[in-house]
Amino acid sequence: MKLSAEQETKIQSLIREMTLDEKIAQLNQASVSIVGGFDVPFSELIEMMTDGRLSQDEFHKIMATSEKDYHEEEIKQGLVGSIMVQDPETSNRLQKIAIEESRLGIPLIIGLDVIHGYKTVVPIALAEAGSFDRDLMRRTAQMAAKESRADGIHWHFAPMLDISRDARWGRVSEGGGEDPYLLSQFAKAKIEGLQNDQSSHLNYVAACLKHYVGYGACEGGRDYNTVSMSESLLRNVYLPPFRAAIDAGATTVMAAFNDLNGVPCTVNREMLTDKLREEFGFDGFVVSDANAIRECVAHGIASDEAEAGAKALYAGLDMDMGTEIYLKTLKGSLASGTISLETVDQAVERILRVKMWLGLFDHPYVELPESDELSEDNKALALEAAEKSIVLLKNKDDLLPLPIDTKISIIGELANKASEVSGAWAISFREKDGVSLVEGITKEFPNSRYFEVGGLETPINEAILQEALAYGDVIILVAGELVSMSGEATSRADISLPGEQSKLFAALENLDKPTVAILMNGRPMAIEKEVGQVDAVIEAWHLGIQMGHAVARTLSGANNPSARLTVSFPRVSGQCPVYYNHPNTGRPAGRSKFTSKYMDIEPGALYDFGYGLSYSRFAFGNVVLKETAESIQIILDVSNISDRDGEEVVQLYVTDKVGSLVRPVKELKGFEKVTVASKEKVAVELRVDKKDLGFWNNQGQYCLEDGDFIFTVTDGNENSESFELNLSF
Ligand code: GLC
Repeated sequence: MKLSAEQETKIQSLIREMTLDEKIAQLNQASVSIVGGFDVPFSELIEMMTDGRLSQDEFHKIMATSEKDYHEEEIKQGLVGSIMVQDPETSNRLQKIAIEESRLGIPLIIGLDVIHGYKTVVPIALAEAGSFDRDLMRRTAQMAAKESRADGIHWHFAPMLDISRDARWGRVSEGGGEDPYLLSQFAKAKIEGLQNDQSSHLNYVAACLKHYVGYGACEGGRDYNTVSMSESLLRNVYLPPFRAAIDAGATTVMAAFNDLNGVPCTVNREMLTDKLREEFGFDGFVVSDANAIRECVAHGIASDEAEAGAKALYAGLDMDMGTEIYLKTLKGSLASGTISLETVDQAVERILRVKMWLGLFDHPYVELPESDELSEDNKALALEAAEKSIVLLKNKDDLLPLPIDTKISIIGELANKASEVSGAWAISFREKDGVSLVEGITKEFPNSRYFEVGGLETPINEAILQEALAYGDVIILVAGELVSMSGEATSRADISLPGEQSKLFAALENLDKPTVAILMNGRPMAIEKEVGQVDAVIEAWHLGIQMGHAVARTLSGANNPSARLTVSFPRVSGQCPVYYNHPNTGRPAGRSKFTSKYMDIEPGALYDFGYGLSYSRFAFGNVVLKETAESIQIILDVSNISDRDGEEVVQLYVTDKVGSLVRPVKELKGFEKVTVASKEKVAVELRVDKKDLGFWNNQGQYCLEDGDFIFTVTDGNENSESFELNLSF
């Protein structure tokens, strides 16, 4: 993060002027829930509402009250450095108090969870990363930055970069899946989109890499649970997306809730200082996750909140989200010598530098927007992102696409819920902006009708089901998860279809007419039986505001599906975790009983990472491998042998056959997405630098080892070609 000499000087002189209270305040992100008699963290308020100790009305009263009374007073006293807000009026009001009524007028940095779009909600990351379209990932981030900055939000708690291999963990929806290379590319594109357009202060925000680190490896897929992993696994799989984002200039990081090998990330100096700053060169600031400093007492790494606060600050955690432990205890810790003033000043400086980099000292306020309608350009980008994130999993006898005069029956509760298109963490989504699948499909297919058959939150209505099965020439079943079953604190031990949705699949199985399943979900689901009961399957995830139109246009062929899976699908829940880049083991799963597999299911994933079909057909030709001193290049022709223009995702995997540590059976090391017109061909070049063919060992050393490597270029479907090469580095 580059500041001018004048800006650096201003920060230093400010720090010299600040009292100790004002310094500690900069480390405090006020929680919206601490007001009056409710001095509890936001997460506990949610719990109190969930278990009935607090009514919805009381909850909203607290939120409103805290918003108004609590902050105005505290900000005036210069005791708040940051706050979460999600509207321009509040942002300006609180900012004005900070600037004009506190002694030094230091602006607030205003943050919010803007994970996949602000008001213009786009596909969840698990879907969008599957577009394998770096430019798209960048453009949606840039849109979110501009749309939210106009509302006075300067800091996104995004991108979420947690590698996830276990579909039982509900937060798999928020990140870009199981592969380090794809998630690293996603990370780089997101940082560029959020931060790089500094032509105006209204065009960029501070990104926040989360959750650092290893959160997706929580034991059993149980959210917040313990994480243990080797140094080599941490460095080869879980850290690369964070390093890619730091190399792209990320300005903030959020420490994860979980402990990593026994030390909670919140107080983990080895991760927050030794690695993040000294080794990776990160120069922004670190914020805790919500309430996480308080939770260090529950972890058992601190005997009380003062000790938790002192340990966190010493570890390199600069800002306290939502507990006020820094505000309440750091003076005491300083007095007792548990922490030094230098450590406090260091944290203050990091936070002030990001505020300066954001232009907040010169531009703290925003113009109130004339309208709160979404722009047509933003809606168009949301449609493009949704269409490019749809994965075609099955299309028996090329059933899809369907003629637009097809008589269609649409069933499945999720189909008619505009509220369900948003996906997890779409906290600024407005239902009025969402297009349900019924709205989209009935617009694209005039002869389609929706039948209230139930099956998810309500029992199946057999009479209406029979009516639906009789009406349509094609039956479309929309099935999956509610948004509330996805995201934080939504781990599920059983990831089969909730409710009676499986019975709807069974009702379609022997029907004498074509059947299509559209999946709306935020995680891979255990649907091996169900996908065999229908003729076509589209994985539509949660695609954001334009989901209905994107799915409908895919069904009609106006959109040719091109995305690929970012996560492997287990056959049954008990098979989790399932992922493609696994070690071979000494007994790779095979026909013999005495190999690494389950007795009661087929080995391997139901669908693999990187898989996805198209309405087009492609063929690879003239595939050649070229070796130079620095890199390996694979050059090929991709021909479209069908009569429909389409997009192909060409993927490059590398297998390091023998190493001083066992290596994954293959690893993604490159991809390109290309558009190929019908009957045309396009030359594609994939390149991997030789320096990227190494791995980290358990001593934290990067190893490039001579030996045999296999380079495989594939589209994740029927096209694949491999080369074996002996390399010396
Ligand atoms: C939550 C999440 C984190 C989010 C933060 C603020 O608990 O773990 O991803 O950014 O709190 O809402």
